[in-house]
Amino acid sequence: MSNDAVAHSFNTLGIVGTGAMGRGIAQLAAQAGLNVMLFDVKEGAVAEATAFINGLWRRSADKQRITQAQAEQYGERLIEARDLAALAPCDIVVEAIIEKLEAKKGLFSDLEGIVRQDAVLATNTSSLSVTAIAAACQHPERVIGFHFFNPVPLMKIVEVIPGLRTANDVTQRVNALGTAMGHFTALATDTPGFLVNHARARFWHRSTARSE
Ligand SMILES: NC(=O)c1ccc[n+]([C@@H]2O[C@H](COP(=O)([O-])OP(=O)(O)OC[C@H]3O[C@@H](n4cnc5c(N)ncnc54)[C@H](O)[C@@H]3O)[C@@H](O)[C@H]2O)c1
Repeated sequence: MSNDAVAHSFNTLGIVGTGAMGRGIAQLAAQAGLNVMLFDVKEGAVAEATAFINGLWRRSADKQRITQAQAEQYGERLIEARDLAALAPCDIVVEAIIEKLEAKKGLFSDLEGIVRQDAVLATNTSSLSVTAIAAACQHPERVIGFHFFNPVPLMKIVEVIPGLRTANDVTQRVNALGTAMGHFTALATDTPGFLVNHARARFWHRSTARSE
């Protein structure tokens, strides 16, 4: 379960939105050796997500899939951010908030005023344009899509989606992070639905056509 040994260039990862997707991404990142700072607008959401993830690790330790020491070490890597400004030390922030363009643009614009200029801003959007989200930023070269699937720990693929202005080194670093988090990475173009959703839709269409 530990991916500590796989090289990646990030130390601290921020999660904004700790619902179904955010907590899964947080779990994998902590297992990959990153410190994970979690923020959610909803009161109590971070505590709930942290308890959920710790529960998974405890059960894994009970089943001897990981050691008790690993479960504790992973748990220590989860840190609550009381407000957005607390994400300042993050090397990368992954947003998993509601699927609304204006909300994501507003968030990324706010984050730019908080994190270092070399920090990466990643979106887990499944249908919005990464380029459109990045348009809200002064530095769109650090904005990228990092699209996990539900449930995150079990769906072992993540799409890496550069926008029109994303820097190549950002794409490479996020790709390496996806691998370090134990997932197969697929480079996808910034089109609605990206790559895997198209593949799933085509598969679904073919299999239902056959059964008709
Ligand atoms: N659920 C899926 O199957 C799935 C799969 C892939 C991608 N996605 C994408 O991931 C993102 C999150 O989806 P989810 O299913 O985890 O949603 P969710 O509703 O489970 O969680 C969203 C969380 O974001 C919080 N939030 C909302 N606005 C916020 C803001 N402005 N700042 C901070 N926190 C905020 C909410 O309080 C909530 O806890 C969406 O963009 C969605 O399209 C979802």
